[in-house]
Amino acid sequence: CTKFLTFNNGLKMPILGIGTWQASDEEIETAIDAALEAGYRHIDTAPVYENEKAIGRVLKRWLDAGKLKREDLFIVTKLPPPTNRPHEVEPTIKKSLADLQLEYVDLYLIHTPFTVCINEDGSFKFKADGTIEIDPTTNHVATWAAMEKLIEKGLAKSIGVSNFSKEQVQRILNNCKIRPANNQVEHHVYLQQRDLIDYCKAEKVTVTAYSPLGSKGIAKLNASVGLVRELPDLLDIEEVKQISAGHGKTPAQVLLRWIIDCGVAAIPKSTNPNRLKQNLDIFDFELSPEEVAKLCALDQNLRICDFSFFRGVEKHPEFTFKNKFNN
Ligand code: A2P
Repeated sequence: CTKFLTFNNGLKMPILGIGTWQASDEEIETAIDAALEAGYRHIDTAPVYENEKAIGRVLKRWLDAGKLKREDLFIVTKLPPPTNRPHEVEPTIKKSLADLQLEYVDLYLIHTPFTVCINEDGSFKFKADGTIEIDPTTNHVATWAAMEKLIEKGLAKSIGVSNFSKEQVQRILNNCKIRPANNQVEHHVYLQQRDLIDYCKAEKVTVTAYSPLGSKGIAKLNASVGLVRELPDLLDIEEVKQISAGHGKTPAQVLLRWIIDCGVAAIPKSTNPNRLKQNLDIFDFELSPEEVAKLCALDQNLRICDFSFFRGVEKHPEFTFKNKFNN
């Protein structure tokens, strides 16, 4: 089983990385230290996760101590939803680079296909009725042209998108000089998005799966805006438990192995050193074709992260996350 995905520009990304959404500074410092000790080299973050500075401190310690060289690492960060405008691309990546204490990132992604507004203090701008203020003028082709300049300037080695639909990726492909290297989307056994993934693969756009374990953390965020939702526990699916027992592996390891067997990268988040190690230890067993078929049959087109915590974002013309909850 391959441990890397190769981009259309020839660069390689470790197929398994650590996700860092919803972790405090203290938690993430411990987690990144433990992850690097365990052998992780691919770290996925974003300014929206508010932990780039903490991650930067750990990276600096490792690099200064000579325990790692910069080229050993694969660091991904993203252009936040409020800065999805061409003129904001370069200043925004520069802020991330300063926080991460890096000269370049390995992959820079447009975080969402929609643009929302922020207050002067950087907080998201909500209207009196609790809905978020959107900026409907998002122009993917114009933002992409600004992303391409980052490669020329050496600020990013590769560029890509996140949460983009097939049509949105297609629009960029039809109007670009540099093709997107990656589309990072929600992908797990309950939301398999085969159409999108097949399309991206055919166009040599690699795919990274976020929320590969079902993102339990999202419940907290939903609750904070009064959204009450029954979300599935992917680790408790009978078929997944049976398959994992047969291999002496955990349900999380089976879910992750299934993703990388789809030729998709995965970025499970954990702040627990044992679970971090467990999530990386998925290269020593194989799922049989029957087991893969059983897992593929679980698809429910069930999107867990539909951005409804940004109430009202579905009014944005580029919003494509309709599901059974917000339809
Ligand atoms: P924790 O950080 O305490 O380990 P996702 O990457 O899909 O968003 O999922 C992350 C969630 O899954 C977090 O709540 C994380 O909790 C939990 N998690 C991560 N790895 C495992 C694992 N191997 N077994 C069980 N839960 C896990």
